[in-house]
Amino acid sequence: MDLFEYVNKRKRDEYEMIGVDGSVIIANNTNISIGVSELDPPKFYTDHFIKELKNHDFIKRYTANAGHPMLTGTLKFYENTLANKFKGNKNLVENLCVTTGATPAITFFFEYFANKYINEKIMLVGLNYYLFYECMTKYKIEGITVTSTLHDRIAPTTTELIMYIEKYNPKLIVLTLPMNPSGECYSEEELREIVRIVKQKDILLLLDKCQLEEFASCYQFLNMNKVILEEDYVQNTIFINSISKTRNLPGARLGYIFANKEIIDYITYLNEIYYCIPPLTYVIPFIADLLARINYIIHDEQSRVSGMKIVNKMYKNISKLNTPKGLYRNYTKPILDSVFEVKEIDNFYKEIDNNYNITYNNYLYTKNKFKKHLHSVTELRGGFNFCIKLKNIPSKKQLDLARDIIIEKEIAILPEIFFNNNKIQNPNELFWIRITAARVEEEYRKLIDEICDFLDKNIDRYLN
Ligand SMILES: Cc1ncc(COP(=O)(O)O)c(C=O)c1O
Repeated sequence: MDLFEYVNKRKRDEYEMIGVDGSVIIANNTNISIGVSELDPPKFYTDHFIKELKNHDFIKRYTANAGHPMLTGTLKFYENTLANKFKGNKNLVENLCVTTGATPAITFFFEYFANKYINEKIMLVGLNYYLFYECMTKYKIEGITVTSTLHDRIAPTTTELIMYIEKYNPKLIVLTLPMNPSGECYSEEELREIVRIVKQKDILLLLDKCQLEEFASCYQFLNMNKVILEEDYVQNTIFINSISKTRNLPGARLGYIFANKEIIDYITYLNEIYYCIPPLTYVIPFIADLLARINYIIHDEQSRVSGMKIVNKMYKNISKLNTPKGLYRNYTKPILDSVFEVKEIDNFYKEIDNNYNITYNNYLYTKNKFKKHLHSVTELRGGFNFCIKLKNIPSKKQLDLARDIIIEKEIAILPEIFFNNNKIQNPNELFWIRITAARVEEEYRKLIDEICDFLDKNIDRYLN
């Protein structure tokens, strides 16, 4: 389809699908599939933002094309620490570009891919963030979504994935870990197995870790950096990250990408010519956050509070060494002075951890509450989205169900079609629905109870 025709069609579809209409979502705040957290961002970020608003410096300047140099430097410091905890002497990250959220990082990378690898295919693992499909359409890249055939799973097992790789022979594999919409995640061993296969076949690996959180005690943290460095696959791996999901700050528009030099040069160029230059707002709390993450990685629980002082000092020395004197005095030092206001480091960790505990409890609540209607549910292993499949309702009825729930209960749900390139895969099979569990418990339970009530009363409408 011609791109203009596609844009028109997309607009019409969106208009007809009232559950997705932005005004309904914003007005009612009752989209149970929304995909962003309804819980608060960490206080450290919001407090700092108030200060930034008073200080015009943050809005009257552009930053550099690849992002503020202090931020790019700290991001490399953090990502390399994660990869080797100072033990190794190899680095994971040499080339990194800050982006206005993960979205331009993904779009710009797809543009690069389309120009570099003509007629090559992409494989998307599990259901996916809709943007990947939009990029495939826009840049006319052929792609396939691969899912598991097992009950309670969307993510293919490694055996299934290897079979799909053999069958489709892609040039790029897109792997969001933890996954969106399903919340599933591979273990370190599984990821290692996948990396070994893609390495054998010279396949590029895009790792989107936007939903990955190290402070969440209810999840096992997957250290992808370490796996990629140890498996020696740095040159062909592209990492994408952002603070939209882990810090509940999609409005801050801060993300980043690191990969080989050719890719990062291209993305930095697009940042420049589209004037998609990342903002200076939230840069200081983000730098402080990264230092807190480094501290979390290198110190155990007992020494974490005192450990923060050591990390700060180390950082101050590195910055002093690497920044010209005038710049350090006028620009870098004031930033560092603000960073070191992080006294409440322990609260910062706890605040984030607590949000994930709320999320996980909401997940358990849903499984229990929906028992009667549930056919399957994915295992929530990270982030705050998971998927459910209802009994008896066929896929061809998914939009009817979504439409009826929004009309009768004013609650929006996003079914599988939104995470599978607007396709209804098997009209007579069951379908997945994304549930976003990051919401204050009472509010969340109310929404779930209402949906249950709707199903109790109306399920007959949708039966095959
Ligand atoms: C897997 C994934 N990647 C990237 C993004 C883009 O996030 P942002 O552009 O807000 O950083 C999202 C947003 O939902 C996402 O779910």
